[in-house]
Amino acid sequence: MGNFLLEKNLEKSIVSYPSSLGDFDNITGAYIHIPFCKRRCFYCDFPISVLGDAAINQHFISVDKYVEFLCREIKFTKFSLNFPSNSLRTIFFGGGTPSLLEVQHLEDILIVIEENFGIASDAEISMEMDPNTFSRAKLEGFQGLGINRVSLGVQSFEDDLLKVCGRSHSVNDIFAAVEIINQVGISNWSLDLISGLPNQSLSQWRDSLSKAIDLKPNHISCYDLVLEPVTVFGKKYQPGDKPLPTDEMAAQMYRLAVEMLTDAGYNHYEISNYAQKGYECRHNRIYWENKPYYGFGMGATSYVDGRRFSRPRIRKDYYAWVEEMELSFDWVNFPKTDQYNQLLETLMLGLRLAEGVSLSKIRETMGNEILTKIYNCLESYSVQGWVEINLVDENIRLMDPDGFLFSNTILSSLFNALEDG
Ligand SMILES: C[S@@+](CC[C@H](N)C(=O)[O-])C[C@H]1O[C@@H](n2cnc3c(N)ncnc32)[C@H](O)[C@@H]1O
Repeated sequence: MGNFLLEKNLEKSIVSYPSSLGDFDNITGAYIHIPFCKRRCFYCDFPISVLGDAAINQHFISVDKYVEFLCREIKFTKFSLNFPSNSLRTIFFGGGTPSLLEVQHLEDILIVIEENFGIASDAEISMEMDPNTFSRAKLEGFQGLGINRVSLGVQSFEDDLLKVCGRSHSVNDIFAAVEIINQVGISNWSLDLISGLPNQSLSQWRDSLSKAIDLKPNHISCYDLVLEPVTVFGKKYQPGDKPLPTDEMAAQMYRLAVEMLTDAGYNHYEISNYAQKGYECRHNRIYWENKPYYGFGMGATSYVDGRRFSRPRIRKDYYAWVEEMELSFDWVNFPKTDQYNQLLETLMLGLRLAEGVSLSKIRETMGNEILTKIYNCLESYSVQGWVEINLVDENIRLMDPDGFLFSNTILSSLFNALEDG
């Protein structure tokens, strides 16, 4: 998920300053965006191309063309690097619905990645998949090519709520998809749920959580519904207004997820993510640790050489961009994130993690004064038990669940405190 919602948060924090916090030529991860979907769900603001419910083989020409341009982008990106690149240790196929690809499409992409960047033998290669978009044979094909982590988009175990969201699958399709994942022997899989859906009751949320737990995924993501203005939901509903839950009910749903999933043995390692020991998502950690990563495909974002930028979100614009970049791509054409904004990013991303943020590196590069500002700003929240300040280890972290629940409040105070020169 990371790649897009993350960028939304980051856009809000930009202001200006010279020099740098990170080492940008140690890139170990790549996000690859596959934009095709059967339909657009009513809450979804991701860059996608809707193909309709017709079988994917009706759209081979469009998918083939997209894969061709994606591979061209991967090639010119490698060509443009002025530093030796490491083999990739994580690859994340996100969407859209990557599981709509045919096995041959995936093979073409992975061959170009291998030839240009190399794929480490222990790489985590994730694919977001939708129920009712893959067969056992297709998943076996994907697994044979190296896919070793599946992220299944479930959202809810209530058929009514799936309909309300405009999902293209049923609850039975979810169980059938999990059956295939188990039959093929994918030993590392995750499922996504959304809380705060229209007319969703606390008992429906409890039921979805317990059904998720019963299926024994290694990892569970629980996202609170974000009302994106351009979506069907965004045009129809107002935050906190019926039929959406109140903020208090949304907070109860968050607390219930924390309680039920940690009781079931999942470690709540990130604000929206829970994992069995050793099954944290290695790729998304790159985002939360504000480390560099490649991004390929329509609407994808990358963070290379301290430069963060997003590709066109419309397919034809993406094709035109690839053709233009093949002739003139140069990283220096993209703005470098200055030290101050890297600080804000590191705090905003790092405080999503249960372990929080180590401030020692920030002190080394930006001096003690910044740390004093951070500690002073967070003092009142630590008294409230929302934040833990560890002066010895120079570490700050949000407490679970209250710190996570009020993370926006805490972060905006922090940004204001750091903005005041
Ligand atoms: C890139 S989307 C996955 C797309 C995949 N085709 C699917 O629908 O399952 C990643 C996850 O983001 C979450 N998500 C998408 N839009 C959201 C929104 N507006 N609010 C909260 N979560 C959202 C969903 O849980 C989804 O599974």
